[in-house]
Amino acid sequence: MDLQLADQHVLVTGASRGIGLAVVRAFLAEGARVTATARRATPELTATGAAFVAADLSTPEGPRRMVEEVLSAGPRLDVLVNNAGGGILPDKLSDDPFDAGDEVWAAAFALNFEAAVRTTRAALPALVEARGAVVNISSDSARRPGSEPLAYASAKAALNTFSRGLAERVAASGVRVNSVTPSATRTSLVTGPDGYVAQVAAGLGIPHEALVSALPQQNGMLTDALIDPAEIARTVLLLASPAMPSVIGANWSVDAGATKAV
Ligand SMILES: NC(=O)c1ccc[n+]([C@@H]2O[C@H](COP(=O)([O-])OP(=O)(O)OC[C@H]3O[C@@H](n4cnc5c(N)ncnc54)[C@H](OP(=O)(O)O)[C@@H]3O)[C@@H](O)[C@H]2O)c1
Repeated sequence: MDLQLADQHVLVTGASRGIGLAVVRAFLAEGARVTATARRATPELTATGAAFVAADLSTPEGPRRMVEEVLSAGPRLDVLVNNAGGGILPDKLSDDPFDAGDEVWAAAFALNFEAAVRTTRAALPALVEARGAVVNISSDSARRPGSEPLAYASAKAALNTFSRGLAERVAASGVRVNSVTPSATRTSLVTGPDGYVAQVAAGLGIPHEALVSALPQQNGMLTDALIDPAEIARTVLLLASPAMPSVIGANWSVDAGATKAV
């Protein structure tokens, strides 16, 4: 199948590792021109040959400055993938149903919600010009009431509402907005020694590997296995592809059945 992505100009946030890195590799394999952004490049990202712009997207000015730098190198933008995100934990785990104070909630929303809003706002004129596509990376946490941390799940739920609402507003300009909802995926966020799951395991006083092994079942995943980031990347490519002009405002789950709803 020709996804018609060759020579398309693509911007991927959170691209230095994990799902973002897999998305970069997948677009490059289709012949797209990719700009990757994160706070720091990694050797794995540099090896892909993608252009790189450093930015902290959780700051109010970070997204706009980053998009301006990308567009000053080349004004065309066909695809924006808002992938940067992740769980934010308090210094100490507790039974507090609010996870922690305002600073944790603000940090979770800044990275998982406001970064996507600000990046999309800055990129929209170029996307309209190209009649392009936006793909936002959400999480099954937004759809499972038992998800923790609640601040992260709430921020991803806000991202879902933003994505669907924006899809309505910009479709007439030729821009398609869609989302992907992964469940537990094999990235450093889950398997890394300093990742989110490792921090939770340390807080609970259990071995990191034990929590990683239990995660698919805990999430209700029917495969009992972590998802390969390349599978999320293939879904992003389909949603971004001009070969899918009628996919608008969709939120495609790649969650091994974790979301228990019809
Ligand atoms: N892995 C999972 O199980 C899972 C499940 C559902 C949803 N998701 C979502 O999928 C997306 C990618 O997750 P992942 O597992 O691939 O995470 P990851 O391996 O931790 O990678 C996160 C990426 O985001 C970048 N990033 C983090 N903070 C940033 C900031 N303040 N400004 C700019 N970039 C920043 C990181 O680079 P720097 O640190 O260099 O900035 C890195 O490139 C996230 O939105 C996450 O919520 C993941």
